[in-house]
Amino acid sequence: MTYKNLEELRVALLQDTGLLMSTLGPRIIPGEGPEDASIMFVGEAGGKNECEQQRPFIGDAGRLLNDTLDKAGINREKTYITNVVKARPTTDGKNRAPSTKEVNRHKDWLMQEIRLIKPRVIVGLGRIACRLLLEDDKVVMSKSVGKIFTKHYTDAILIPAWHPSYILTYRQNLIENEIEIFREAKRLSS
Ligand code: URA
Repeated sequence: MTYKNLEELRVALLQDTGLLMSTLGPRIIPGEGPEDASIMFVGEAGGKNECEQQRPFIGDAGRLLNDTLDKAGINREKTYITNVVKARPTTDGKNRAPSTKEVNRHKDWLMQEIRLIKPRVIVGLGRIACRLLLEDDKVVMSKSVGKIFTKHYTDAILIPAWHPSYILTYRQNLIENEIEIFREAKRLSS
């Protein structure tokens, strides 16, 4: 299936209620941003806030992402921001990483977004996004962040970056590194 425009894709995505499986939900969280975005950011999956508002990266990780974008001179509204899994993986009311089964059920939507938007640069935020984008289950973030990759399915340059939640929870000292990666992404996208 190919979509004429982002609005058509969004409508179809929201109708794909099978995406919620029995393990996700209760709402679908579409990507957001303009169709002509030259940079795309791909996260892992939504959390509680994202699920309530059906928007990506609007909780704590979103605030750090916004701050990093600002410091790198990138206007969030000109980028396209999405997730591998377009819903909230949750167990006992807590966020969790998506399972392989959930990623496999959702991944075609990300490929549809990439095909439609044709960004110049795609920044993968964290391991789940990077392993999918680089088609490599063995990607190790510490060896990959900031490097440049290309893949057969897109003309975009692929750049792995830290997941904002990882920086928040474990490694605040990675913020400067993240800003540098985002600056490079901006440079390569213009
Ligand atoms: N919020 C999102 O939308 N995605 C993530 O990966 C984390 C927080």
